[in-house]
Amino acid sequence: MAVLADRFGRQFPYLRLSLLEACNFRCSYCLPDGYHAAPGLPAPLRIDEIERLLRAFADMGMRKVRLTGGEPTLRKDLPAIVRVAATTPGVSTVAMTTNGCLLRRRWPEWRAAGLTALNVSVDTLDRARFAQITGHDRLDDICAGIDEAVDGGFTRIKLNAVLLRGLNDDQLPAFVDYVRQRPVSIRFIELMRTGCNKSYFERHHLRADIIADALVAAGWRCLPRSADAGPAVEYAHPNYQGRIGIIAPYARDFCAGCNRLRVTAQGDLRLCLFGHFGVPLRPMLQNDDQIPDLKAALSGQLGLKAAGHGLHQDDTGMTPHLASVGG
Ligand code: GTP
Ligand code: 5AD
Ligand code: SF4
Repeated sequence: MAVLADRFGRQFPYLRLSLLEACNFRCSYCLPDGYHAAPGLPAPLRIDEIERLLRAFADMGMRKVRLTGGEPTLRKDLPAIVRVAATTPGVSTVAMTTNGCLLRRRWPEWRAAGLTALNVSVDTLDRARFAQITGHDRLDDICAGIDEAVDGGFTRIKLNAVLLRGLNDDQLPAFVDYVRQRPVSIRFIELMRTGCNKSYFERHHLRADIIADALVAAGWRCLPRSADAGPAVEYAHPNYQGRIGIIAPYARDFCAGCNRLRVTAQGDLRLCLFGHFGVPLRPMLQNDDQIPDLKAALSGQLGLKAAGHGLHQDDTGMTPHLASVGG
């Protein structure tokens, strides 16, 4: 049986599937000018196309699918998509990354449909700053949604905070306090350079090492990484229920453990987050008879996956490279 593996021995049990490009927030690092639909952009994949896509990936060893965007919860058919993912033979984890805007109202419905893990973007616990960064004064509502989901038994919840000099670099104590009594993980993500955030990046980029040093000094212990770990390095402390993670894409060994592939909302396969080139899979998603062709195309493409994202070939490691990071 063909499996999702590359010539460096890496396997890809994890698919990140974008459900749409649009987002209702305007996080300053992601969409500095707000979201504008690219003219002529085709509609996102339909649910029948998604179903075939997931079946083909799962036949080749994909076990975890993460629904991303844009903001995936803006899709009206989200519960049906979650159900399709959860019932795809072989899939054991259906995760989603969201800005949390609909969490409070909708989490029970998503969970009932089969969602097993949630990552919520919360860049700061300061209400005014949150409104400044995202363009929306929704922190209290989102935090209430997180607490309700945790209390309701949703056990796999992580918060994502992009580290921003001058905007949230004073937030470590607040976040540490937040996980004292809550079984959630907070991950600090080093700001990545995208096609449109050059001057923003220069003003706000902060290396994630400062967080690691502060955590170790406060008694947090770095956990050994499991073979199938994602990009985060995790820290735990005996007096805290939650964990703290660090995602540092500019760290030298970041790609060695790459375990994921991406598909854009229009059905283009992306071998790496850092890369503009996508191979259109949509023409092979139109009927069930095409699934063998789709699987052959996936095997062929994986043969082309590079060892790393190549950013360190440049001294600064910070050339423009990403169209956007959301997915
Ligand atoms: P889990 O490990 O499944 O919880 O998810 P995750 O951390 O991969 O997913 P999430 O969508 O929460 O992404 C967190 C951050 O990691 C975001 O800033 C992503 O853009 C970034 N990220 C995820 N995958 C990659 C990757 O392959 N390369 C890089 N450079 N960054 C990634
Ligand atoms: N750098 C780092 N993380 C980013 N995200 C979006 N844009 C960037 C960027 N330029 C994060 C969001 C969300 C996740 C999907 O990606 O905060 O948590
Ligand atoms: Fe939307 Fe996520 Fe980008 Fe914020 S980071 S604007 S929530 S896609």
